[in-house]
Amino acid sequence: RKPVSLPRLADMHARGEKISMLTAYDATFAAMADAAGVDCLLVGDSLGMVCQGLNSTVGVSLETMRYHTDSVSRGLRRVQGTAWLIADLPFGSYQESREQALRSATVLMQAGAHMVKLEGGGWTTETVRFLVERGIPVCAHLGLTPQTVHALGGYRVQGKGDAGALLKQHAHALQDAGATMLVLEMVPAALAAELTAELKHCATIGIGAGKATAGQVLVLHDMLGINLGKMPKFVRNFMADAPGVLPALKAYVQAVKDGSFPDDQLHAW
Ligand code: KIV
Ligand code: NA
Repeated sequence: RKPVSLPRLADMHARGEKISMLTAYDATFAAMADAAGVDCLLVGDSLGMVCQGLNSTVGVSLETMRYHTDSVSRGLRRVQGTAWLIADLPFGSYQESREQALRSATVLMQAGAHMVKLEGGGWTTETVRFLVERGIPVCAHLGLTPQTVHALGGYRVQGKGDAGALLKQHAHALQDAGATMLVLEMVPAALAAELTAELKHCATIGIGAGKATAGQVLVLHDMLGINLGKMPKFVRNFMADAPGVLPALKAYVQAVKDGSFPDDQLHAW
């Protein structure tokens, strides 16, 4: 396989080929997900919960993100992996100033990331523009933004009713600022569908956002059924019908590509 690049992702988006994404936190899982054909790997700050035992992503540090990005990147290199590697800018590493965001993004890019992701709309637009102008591809993230869970009042669906218009406004501004990908987390399927149709230069990646988005992402451990708490409604356990981890990962890619995941009845609102 040829390496997944920004032009290739744009081409998939334009052709309507669904983009498959999973989180990865270590070298071995990264290599396996790559072997399964996953297009994009996200070193998500969900590693705070999955790997570090934290209650939320708020406590994840930039150094921790660098460590895991380094591990995932090495795992991909060992197998000459082709996945596009995205790393989350953690809470507090980009809010202060555009310059702080650039410094933090540099740490993750030097650890092997191809793109950084940051949460929120509004003020983040100028930060996104600043990074993109300086050669750092950016993925935005709207809807349920876990780093601001305390301000949001819990892990609940976002963008319902009137709030949908503001979310849309933010999404368009982020696209105009140069964000080429946008994670939509726990938003109504209809809103995600409208935005996906409107945004021509920014691929929407849904998680709990229905089936119309340009791509899908899940937390790796969740889709393998490795979850100590309550499984979120939007998750499907791909290990349930698979004889092993690699087949489960392949089944996920297949289900995203052919549109059989997610199921709007079971995995959306
Ligand atoms: O950290 C994470 O895993 C994420 C995805 C759920 C989008 O941000
Ligand atoms: Na995240």
